[in-house]
Amino acid sequence: MAVRGEGMHLYDAEGKEYLDMSGGAAVSCLGHGHPDVVRAVQDQAGKLAFAHTAFFTNEPQEELADSLARRFEEDGARVWFTSGGSESNETALKIAWQYWRARGQSEKTIIISRQFSYHGGTLGATSISGSVFRRAPYERVLHDWPRISPCYSWRHQYDDETERQYGHRVAAELDEAIRLAGAENVAAFIAEPVVGATLGVVPPVPGYFEEIRRICDEHHVLFIADEVMCGSGRCGTFYAHDQENVVPDLVTIAKGLGGGYQPIGAIIARREICDAIAEDPGGFAHGHTYIGHAISCAAGVAIQKCLDDGLLGSVSEKGAMMRKILQERFGEHPAVGDIRGRGLFAGIEFVADRHTKAPFSLEERIPAKLKCAAMEQGLICYPGGGSVDGKLGAHLLLAPPFIAEEIHFTRLADKLGKMFASVFT
Ligand SMILES: Cc1ncc(COP(=O)(O)O)c(C=O)c1O
Repeated sequence: MAVRGEGMHLYDAEGKEYLDMSGGAAVSCLGHGHPDVVRAVQDQAGKLAFAHTAFFTNEPQEELADSLARRFEEDGARVWFTSGGSESNETALKIAWQYWRARGQSEKTIIISRQFSYHGGTLGATSISGSVFRRAPYERVLHDWPRISPCYSWRHQYDDETERQYGHRVAAELDEAIRLAGAENVAAFIAEPVVGATLGVVPPVPGYFEEIRRICDEHHVLFIADEVMCGSGRCGTFYAHDQENVVPDLVTIAKGLGGGYQPIGAIIARREICDAIAEDPGGFAHGHTYIGHAISCAAGVAIQKCLDDGLLGSVSEKGAMMRKILQERFGEHPAVGDIRGRGLFAGIEFVADRHTKAPFSLEERIPAKLKCAAMEQGLICYPGGGSVDGKLGAHLLLAPPFIAEEIHFTRLADKLGKMFASVFT
């Protein structure tokens, strides 16, 4: 039972302290109990909690939308709020479909995604997810649209190819998938710029997303960047795709947007897309009751201010420090295959054999053991599995609050050392 949160720590009902080095699931970007955000939420609750968007807009909604649009590379981007990541992706799909309908191409409905991906728990979002075990129970009611390989060089780059060659090889799968489905039937391609939970923080190789953008443009297919986990500053720039030299047509965010203080997500759309939909009779045929909720948006605005007050600028440097400490402590550990990441978003992949990169067997239940050992050590981190084939493969995801300092990375390494000693005996 969690009863209190303060800065980098959570406390349970017995008073045990947990160092939060994953912000739950990359949510708590400012840590816990941040006074500015708490005050903003309290003030807004006292002033105006809710006024339905069918009748009104509200100040925090407008301010947050302006801030998100300003951070987007292209002028005139439009913003739509939701209550979380799944709703954001679900909404992005509807925007894509209605865009093509408005352009007189209603048959463009297929959404291509990547294997081993996760885009959310609602039906549309699960349909575009490649995560094997998250799909399995619902497979009969899901769409089975094409899925291409992820860009995951540590496991899949050949010895005789460069990173760029590898990136082009896997991006070419998109070209092939679009041709097979028929470009006239494909609405969009969706991918996480930096893959989070399913592979354990995998940044793309240089040039991969530029090639993806080129292929999407060539075939008139929209590119949706799912930045629910990797966006909102987590990778060192507010939008993760900023580091890939591309402008997506739609970007979805959540998690760090509300930092755990409020449930909120958003879609940022290029102007041209919104203009086309506005001309479709009746406009955008979609909505949720809590769109642009005033308290949620007020929390978001307070977080944006903290990011602008220097926190966002510190993410890359702190992330490099964290990875250096992890590398020094565990770079040669017999069960550690790879330590990787971008900004304050890092992954450690575990292997049974460092030379062949062979994973541990499923029976060894490494992710479950890591989670137990972490809770025992008073550490919140995010272990996961499936990076090899959707089932095999074990990793640990780290996404500490941006207020973390060197001392927290050192404590993290101490706790991981004890965990690894108990799990990999
Ligand atoms: C990349 C990605 N997209 C979408 C989602 C779904 O977001 P939510 O759980 O807020 O609905 C998640 C959640 O972990 C995610 O990691």
